[in-house]
Amino acid sequence: MKSIKSQPSIFVIFGGTGDLNSRKITPALYNLYLDDWLPDHFAVIGTGRTKLTNEEFRATLLEGINQFSRNGKADKKKWEEFSAHITYIVSDINNAKSYSAFSESIKSFEAEWKLPANIIYYLAVAPQFFPTIATNISKNALCADIAKTRIVIEKPFGHDLESAKDLNNLLKGIFDEKQIYRIDHYLGKETVQNIMAFRFANALFEPQWNRNYIDHVQISVTEQLGVGDRGEYYEGSGALRDMVQNHILQLLCIVAMEVPVDFSSDEIRDRKVDVLRAMRRFGPGDIKKRVVRGQYSAGWMEGKEVPGYREETKVNPESNTETFAAVKFFIDNWRWEGVPFYVRTGKRMQQSSSVITIQYKDVPHSIFPTEASENWGQNRLVISIQPEMSIRLQVQAKRPGLNMVLNPVDMVFDYKGTYASETPEAYETLLLDVMQGDQTLFMRGDQVEAAWELIMPILTSWETKQSLSFPNYVADTWGPELAEALVAQDGYHWFTLPIHKKK
Ligand code: BG6
Repeated sequence: MKSIKSQPSIFVIFGGTGDLNSRKITPALYNLYLDDWLPDHFAVIGTGRTKLTNEEFRATLLEGINQFSRNGKADKKKWEEFSAHITYIVSDINNAKSYSAFSESIKSFEAEWKLPANIIYYLAVAPQFFPTIATNISKNALCADIAKTRIVIEKPFGHDLESAKDLNNLLKGIFDEKQIYRIDHYLGKETVQNIMAFRFANALFEPQWNRNYIDHVQISVTEQLGVGDRGEYYEGSGALRDMVQNHILQLLCIVAMEVPVDFSSDEIRDRKVDVLRAMRRFGPGDIKKRVVRGQYSAGWMEGKEVPGYREETKVNPESNTETFAAVKFFIDNWRWEGVPFYVRTGKRMQQSSSVITIQYKDVPHSIFPTEASENWGQNRLVISIQPEMSIRLQVQAKRPGLNMVLNPVDMVFDYKGTYASETPEAYETLLLDVMQGDQTLFMRGDQVEAAWELIMPILTSWETKQSLSFPNYVADTWGPELAEALVAQDGYHWFTLPIHKKK
């Protein structure tokens, strides 16, 4: 089947020789090419400080594809066709001459195609370079056409509320909001997009999607990996900044948002901002009650000894940075008043998985004898984002037999069993959306600021108070004991799917 093609497009990738481009961006573009989603006229201009010929640059990208593409090693013929669209320009982001070179290259593609193209500037560089590049793009008149030019900004978007505001102000002084695509790759994940379909395309769930029926919600995003070679970045970040401020709050917004009037990007993003605005703030006494931080110590994972966080490369041996965070949020509005939203995330945890659990309230009255309902469980909806991609609805059923005995069973929608086709990677979805000018799955400036505003009191408290208990959880566990206590004191436990260890 032929897909709906985007307009002619030119990607200018800053940080062309970097890790993100070889792991994610180019493999995603290549897969879009294989699946016939790229326009007939497209060009990728990689740029960086390293001197490389086009051929050398293409060779580094091919290595990335062979290692990281979901389609495995590149097909020789397809790669040759695709890579003919890739060129490389050596650049110095401070030098106007580099921007003239981009401009000339763009003009020459448009002249050759005899068509105007969408120009997408992708900033796959460290955040300290965002201002210089954005300012120089503007100074060199490379973004004057609002409809045609777009800028993609990777996370982290700011280090705190103030720096996020500064970056927003700078970008808004140069670009129209319609041109700015702030990436949160979780929004491109297939299962995350499906939460909206599940909620708003089924008559069944919406009427009970509220405080009258739902007891509490859990969002658990855990990883077996440690910080690896990202110690330098992670020391300045920590789990709250790295995962909660962006990915987890975005998931929470999709679960908790009101029903949008339509599927337009601003309508959806407005409803998400409403959630962030309604979230209960953290006063001084709340941090101890509603937030837990953790840091991993050395341990054994799948038979291999792994270092503690403080022993990782480029990490301070007395580091106060958290590698685990658990937070109890509340949303003070009519739909959710009083319903706790527990979230947790951590590195070096027992399982790599992202799971959202909606726990329903108990039935108002049980008609069954006690013996029948010994294994009684409340209804539960489990949305598994990764590695398993599924939605499970746990219901009570009668066990076969002559006695009336009830036990919980799962009604399962599982991607693997339902669809034969491969699932696109988040970056494929997001890059296609940028080409097509659809901002629904990107964060708007006010959303980012609202998320920072919410977590700032926690960050400030943690940064000013050294944790005396760090490290407080051993690798290959479920985090610090206090995280269990956070939910246990309300009578709950963290829900986990059966363990899937990474192969
Ligand atoms: C990134 C974080 O945004 O998301 C990483 O910086 C984290 O620390 C990663 O490992 C998790 O993404 P995924 O898609 O592997 O769940």
